[in-house]
Amino acid sequence: MNKPASATNNLPKIAIFASGFGSNFEAIVNAVENHEIEATIACLVVDKPDCFAVQRAINHNIKVISFNPKDFESKMHYESMLVEKLLAENIQLIVLAGYMRIIGDTLLQSFHKKIINIHPALLPAFPGKHGITDAYNYGVKVFGVTVHFVDNGIDTGEIIDQEAFKMKDNQSIDDVETQIHTIEHRLYPRVIKQLLSK
Ligand code: GRF
Repeated sequence: MNKPASATNNLPKIAIFASGFGSNFEAIVNAVENHEIEATIACLVVDKPDCFAVQRAINHNIKVISFNPKDFESKMHYESMLVEKLLAENIQLIVLAGYMRIIGDTLLQSFHKKIINIHPALLPAFPGKHGITDAYNYGVKVFGVTVHFVDNGIDTGEIIDQEAFKMKDNQSIDDVETQIHTIEHRLYPRVIKQLLSK
């Protein structure tokens, strides 16, 4: 049986941030458990205690750090608490996987060029929460996925990798979305592996 992705060892430590379904979280966990990525997933950080990603973490014996940012005086206080916990875990890479919150200066300064995000469109086109719908409604014929470093803008950080595909005739938005998620689940683990090997 595979060791839990959170087993204690000397491998680089990753924290994954999520707010929702957590399919990318699960894809990365699987890649760690299958040794495609040689790392430890030290924790899942969520800002929504009841999101499905939490259940996935429990299933994989991964520690969950769960706080409601509204319970803090300010974004700076919320992020300072996270920085303290992440430094205590010796985290080397923060992976945003459907984390629906803009990262502020407190986290950015403590983890400079160590926070990455996945976006379901070919940036710099269609940033923001509705990348797939915006691209589809615009009528683009080539869709894709971007992995980028996080800066203080919305999906504006340096691009690390992208994968594109051409839409088939009459492909519905649901079909496009499914194809995008399939690519995400392959691309994100591959990029993480590359970053950790540098
Ligand atoms: C993904 O489409 C990702 O690109 C975007 O948010 C979505 C998260 O999906 N940033 P999931 O929660 O990983 O299933």
